[in-house]
Amino acid sequence: MTAHTNIPARDECLRLMEAHAMLPHIRAHSITVCRFAVAIAQAANEGGCDFHLPAIEAAALLHDITKTRSLETGENHARTGADLLRELGYGAIAGMVEEHVTPTDHGGDLTAGELISYADKRVLHDRIVSIDERFDYLYERYGRDEHAVQRIGRARIRTQEIEDKLRARLNGSARAIICDFT
Ligand SMILES: [Fe+2]
Repeated sequence: MTAHTNIPARDECLRLMEAHAMLPHIRAHSITVCRFAVAIAQAANEGGCDFHLPAIEAAALLHDITKTRSLETGENHARTGADLLRELGYGAIAGMVEEHVTPTDHGGDLTAGELISYADKRVLHDRIVSIDERFDYLYERYGRDEHAVQRIGRARIRTQEIEDKLRARLNGSARAIICDFT
């Protein structure tokens, strides 16, 4: 349980959002990602996974903690968000934040980093949407050249892979509610 010893509670996560001047729409997005990520983790745990829900909650709330700043600086917000959390002593959730844009593929069962990334890819602004709807938006907003289109295409494939792993862990009704949402 040592990895779980220093997880910021929800109040502390909300305080950190304030302290880092998070833009209101990024805050609203993060709160919806959190709600969805915790619901996914709970359902996956019922299917035999062992996600630590307070860690999922905190990582989801804080996954974009440096995103507001990145809009000015152009920094890699997944990397700098993880660095910030390590500096604050929250190393246990830093890896999930680091992976939220491009989750590492360990080749095995669904990981916490994949779960956070997947929840983020299913929330458009502050609404839970299908993978198709979210990626239609990404292509339109960020697909400005061939390189960007290919990058988004790879992320789309990766998100579908994560969903397939998740489906294998969910019972029929959870699968219908979480994955077959349109
Ligand atoms: Fe992000």
